[in-house]
Amino acid sequence: MTSLPQQAEEARDRLDVTALRHPDSIKWTLYPPDVIPMWVADMDYPVAPPIVAALQERLTRGLGYHQLRGDPELLPLLRAHLATQGLDDLPEDGIALLPGVVPGLYAAVHALTTPGEPVVTMVPIYHPFHLAITDLGRRVAGVPLREGEGGYEVNWAAMDAAARGSRLLMLCHPHNPTGRVWSAGELEKLRDLAIARDLFVVSDELHADLRFTGQAFEAFAADPRVRSRTITLTGPCKAYNTAGLGIGAMVGHNAALIKRVKSAAGGLMGHEGALSVTMWRAALRDGGPWLKDTLAYLQANRDFMMDYLQTNQPWVRAHMPEATYLAWLDLRDHPRAGDIQQFLLDEAKIAIHDGPVFAPEAQKTQYQGFIRVNFATSRAILTEALDRMSAALDAAR
Ligand SMILES: Cc1ncc(COP(=O)(O)O)c(C=O)c1O
Repeated sequence: MTSLPQQAEEARDRLDVTALRHPDSIKWTLYPPDVIPMWVADMDYPVAPPIVAALQERLTRGLGYHQLRGDPELLPLLRAHLATQGLDDLPEDGIALLPGVVPGLYAAVHALTTPGEPVVTMVPIYHPFHLAITDLGRRVAGVPLREGEGGYEVNWAAMDAAARGSRLLMLCHPHNPTGRVWSAGELEKLRDLAIARDLFVVSDELHADLRFTGQAFEAFAADPRVRSRTITLTGPCKAYNTAGLGIGAMVGHNAALIKRVKSAAGGLMGHEGALSVTMWRAALRDGGPWLKDTLAYLQANRDFMMDYLQTNQPWVRAHMPEATYLAWLDLRDHPRAGDIQQFLLDEAKIAIHDGPVFAPEAQKTQYQGFIRVNFATSRAILTEALDRMSAALDAAR
């Protein structure tokens, strides 16, 4: 008899492409059927069995309003989980559930800044950061990360200059798209900056549970020095592959700040769905073993991909993601860097996210030639995608 972890690994190894290419999936249907989709951040793996069981059980009952002041079982589970990341002692009103993390980004910009003001972010960054700022009529003070020996780093002088005129820093920790987990030293400097420049901080920590082995993690607001000025955003959808069931939370030690942000969005925010609450509860309560196995699979995929590139396309500039299942690759040395997304779509039949997506309007051209690749698929599909990409890149030299 095969053990449970083995069965889970087999499920990840033997993905059924026909089943994945269902109209339910934007990842698998946006591009023609001969294209391997490696763009949007969904994993190709089936949902954790305990989550499926909990959802099935939930459907044996009605689907009326659940307890809107916060689910009495979810909240303690979430508190205990956040405490392991340094967010202990959250006050009674220190958690507000949201219909997703992105609404939290928008609500924070809306509540904590006024139109025309600059808001500080790093570039590149998950694009809704920039969209939240510009959609609401604020300006992006986008500070480009710089490439160091070991990976992407913060440009401290530029961060400080951007922070001078601003009231809000939007942080992504771990960072999408580079996969950086900001180190203790970097977090300390970011905290010093937030205090020195008197900034509110919104720290999107949605990818925190997708860390590879050996990678320590501390929430930005783990340090009491910054707790009163920080809102942390979290949710289950990246770690548990449940993005279609939107839910998230805005948490912090300053309950008045949470209330200010939540009420600024008012009725526009909507409430979290009952099935999403059930899903998150099951993930936190029983999803740990599934997540551990998934991370082991992802880590092996990451290592395989990095080795593959090093061997077959050594000119590609790439750094090991420390978290997330996303790799940020610099292909600017290739003759087709100028239209790399379309080139890979047409010639390699793989769909990746184009670098400029992760930059605000004024900085997009600097990211032409970068791509973000989602490696959360089976080893066989990943190998096929890398073979296609490598052959297309070689043929166009
Ligand atoms: C950093 C980050 N924040 C937020 C989201 C989306 O969160 P939600 O679907 O809960 O709005 C993503 C999705 O990939 C993400 O990478």
